[in-house]
Amino acid sequence: MGGARRHLALVLCTLLSLPEAGPQETKSSCHKWCPANSECVSISTCRCKPGFTPSKMLITDPTETCEDINECLLPMAAICGKYATCENTEGSYYCMCNPGYELKSGAKKFTNQSENTCQDVDECSTRQHQCHSSTVCSNSAGSYKCHCRPGWEPVPGSSSGPKNTTCRELLFPTWAPPMGVNSQSFSCFSVEVQNLLRDFNPDNANTTIQKLIEALDKLLEAPGDIETHQLATQLLLNLEQTLRTLAQSLPKGLFIYTSPSNTELSLIKEQENTGITTVGHNQASMELNWTVAAGAKSSGNGYAVAGILSSPNMQKLLANASLNLDKRQVALEEFYDSPVRDVSLKLLSNVSSVFMTNTDTKKLASNVTFTFSYSRESIGPRQELICAFWQGQSNGSGRWATEGCSIQSPNGTECTCNHLSSFAILMAHYHVQDPRLELITKVGLLLSLICLLLCILTFLLVRPIQSSRTTVHLHLCICLFLGSVIFLVGIENEGGEVSPRCRLVAALLHYCFLAAFCWMSLEGLELYFLVVRVFQGQGLSTRWRCLIGYGTPLLIVAISAASNIQGYGRPTYCWLDHRSGFLWSFVGPLAFIILCNAIIFVITVWKLTKKFSDINPDMKKLKKVRVLTITAIAQLFVLGCTWVFGLFLFNPHSTWLSYIFTLLTCLQGFFLYLMLCLLNKKVREEYRKWACMVAGNKYSEFNSSTGTGTSQNQTRVLRPPESGM
Ligand SMILES: *[C@@H]1O[C@H](CO)[C@@H](O)[C@H](O)[C@H]1NC(C)=O
Ligand SMILES: *[C@@H]1O[C@H](CO)[C@@H](O)[C@H](O)[C@H]1NC(C)=O
Ligand SMILES: *[C@@H]1O[C@H](CO)[C@@H](O)[C@H](O)[C@H]1NC(C)=O
Ligand SMILES: *[C@@H]1O[C@H](CO)[C@@H](O)[C@H](O)[C@H]1NC(C)=O
Ligand SMILES: *[C@@H]1O[C@H](CO)[C@@H](O)[C@H](O)[C@H]1NC(C)=O
Ligand SMILES: *[C@@H]1O[C@H](CO)[C@@H](O)[C@H](O)[C@H]1NC(C)=O
Ligand SMILES: *[C@@H]1O[C@H](CO)[C@@H](O)[C@H](O)[C@H]1NC(C)=O
Ligand SMILES: *[C@@H]1O[C@H](CO)[C@@H](O)[C@H](O)[C@H]1NC(C)=O
Ligand SMILES: *[C@@H]1O[C@H](CO)[C@@H](O)[C@H](O)[C@H]1NC(C)=O
Repeated sequence: MGGARRHLALVLCTLLSLPEAGPQETKSSCHKWCPANSECVSISTCRCKPGFTPSKMLITDPTETCEDINECLLPMAAICGKYATCENTEGSYYCMCNPGYELKSGAKKFTNQSENTCQDVDECSTRQHQCHSSTVCSNSAGSYKCHCRPGWEPVPGSSSGPKNTTCRELLFPTWAPPMGVNSQSFSCFSVEVQNLLRDFNPDNANTTIQKLIEALDKLLEAPGDIETHQLATQLLLNLEQTLRTLAQSLPKGLFIYTSPSNTELSLIKEQENTGITTVGHNQASMELNWTVAAGAKSSGNGYAVAGILSSPNMQKLLANASLNLDKRQVALEEFYDSPVRDVSLKLLSNVSSVFMTNTDTKKLASNVTFTFSYSRESIGPRQELICAFWQGQSNGSGRWATEGCSIQSPNGTECTCNHLSSFAILMAHYHVQDPRLELITKVGLLLSLICLLLCILTFLLVRPIQSSRTTVHLHLCICLFLGSVIFLVGIENEGGEVSPRCRLVAALLHYCFLAAFCWMSLEGLELYFLVVRVFQGQGLSTRWRCLIGYGTPLLIVAISAASNIQGYGRPTYCWLDHRSGFLWSFVGPLAFIILCNAIIFVITVWKLTKKFSDINPDMKKLKKVRVLTITAIAQLFVLGCTWVFGLFLFNPHSTWLSYIFTLLTCLQGFFLYLMLCLLNKKVREEYRKWACMVAGNKYSEFNSSTGTGTSQNQTRVLRPPESGM
């Protein structure tokens, strides 16, 4: 038994030690040199373990190494299959389902594509999700999102990752008239809207919007006591805010509603994207980059809305509003070279209000383009089409403004803006001139024309005053008459750009007024001959006079036109362009003539005084003074001292100087008639003769018709010219 036990012990010992001893022997022999991650094949060879390279090749050199193979990078990279990721390990790899997916079996790892059963985890049904209680979880492939509950909106300023959204119930603005404004109809409308919104159910957002628009139509059809722009501003703001809120509860896609009163609403609810979207209807449409609609902050549910509301009746509330010219004023005044005193506006298109998810619409990342439909109007002088928006003021009132908006297409249908509000296309008429000044000019010029005509007729028909001086007077009056007629008819440039007609008018005016001044200088010369060299002949012959009077201005105009034809005509008036210094072709000769005449005038007065004292020092002093005064005043006007006043003092921004200059220039004709005809004894005598003749005719006519009763035909014949007078 002892021997048997010893034998068993030996066998056990051998059994236990054998597996130990064998490898121990190999290991100890390999250990000396087999590199890491390799195994012994024989005493002199090693081989890399599976998953290490070089594989299969026998290693005989102890300096060689075995490197890990990254199975995930091998050409068979799709080793794991769909919705899974390969993970490399030292000498091996494994596959794992992507986040949001898991294996059907519930296991975590697998190694062969054939074992891939990765499927989407429904986080929402398994309550794994982290959605806030104010939101609804919605499952998506591999993930989930937290949307605001219907009728709720993201809390502004809350963190806005797809999973951290927090929401609050939709907020509508308070519908009530602004403080201090009483309006029965607006109050009624506000109550109606408040009730409508109190009962708001997100599932019926479409019906609520329709009811709101119908209430608005009712208000606008009979605005009653809504006349302040404060109410209009408030109404537009509230509408914008309410529609934005309501629209967010609509299902995605396009929503269009046209009310019975032709108020049109178009809005679109779309997933956030970076494409261009167009939304609109007949009256107006808007084109925008959808990133603008969503705004800088994500709305929280991935959807953004943008809409446009156009109403034919909205303009009733915005009537008589003023225009905020702002920076444009300077440009306009520079263009018209005159202060812009007033602007009258005419609304051409219907008013359109815009709303979108993005509430930060003061300065948009990219421009929004509007297209309006409206009937074309011809654009007159000092008029232009503007694309204006309704600008709320700090005191709650409002007015039109154009800053940040511009009309793009040449036909004026497209308007580009870098902010949002309520828009319309308007025709702006700039009153760059004082209307009173225009009236004075028109009336004064007409009076002047009549007087000049009377002068011309007098000089032509009154025989006893025919002389060389009368001829000069006549030509002076003709030049002024023609100049005034051309001024009255053609001075305004209709088209805005300088047309050939305008250039011609400017050149003719240049010629006429220069000619008038040349004849004025001849007048001075005549006076000089008359007073100073009274015994030495008649001065210049008629041919020479005409040559000077009409030839000199022709020469000046010809040279001016040849050197710079562009100088004739300006965008606003058909007169010489003063900016390029071209006006000097008028001012230069003028200054020269006036200077010469002033010298002649001084000499004449001096000689006159001397003569009066020479001939009869005791002669009625009174008469002498009177004659001198009258002559002096006549000369002052005839020789165009008013133009001196105008040239050196004229400043379009100084109202009073403008008035005085306009008055004096316009009345030149009247003064000429007064000085040259009415104060001339011979002319007055002649007028009296004519008056007597006319009266005598009438008297005899009257006698004959009443006396005999036979010459009624004669009376009838004479009547037409009488009534025509
Ligand atoms: C995966 O399994 C299939 C069959 O089950 C087999 O043919 C294939 O060789 C395996 N692939 C790998 C990389 O083990
Ligand atoms: C949203 O929540 C995730 C965790 O769910 C967090 O990592 C992330 O910073 C949060 N985002 C914001 C903007 O708070
Ligand atoms: C509003 O939309 C619902 C479906 O969302 C529809 O059933 C209903 O007819 C719509 N109402 C109107 C007035 O269009
Ligand atoms: C606009 O002005 C006209 C007269 O100038 C006036 O009759 C009308 O009531 C005004 N409209 C508004 C809305 O102020
Ligand atoms: C819209 O705006 C975004 C961001 O400003 C820009 O990346 C994108 O290119 C724009 N899309 C188009 C069509 O211009
Ligand atoms: C305003 O809208 C009405 C109704 O759609 C339309 O008949 C009218 O022509 C529009 N007015 C303008 C100026 O477009
Ligand atoms: C608001 O202020 C503007 C000037 O900024 C003024 O012309 C207008 O009359 C004011 N309106 C009211 C209602 O106070
Ligand atoms: C946007 O519109 C404004 C005003 O019309 C214009 O000055 C600006 O150049 C426009 N910007 C772009 C990018 O078109
Ligand atoms: C106005 O111009 C735009 C493009 O500039 C064009 O698409 C449109 O047809 C024009 N409309 C009219 C009425 O000429």
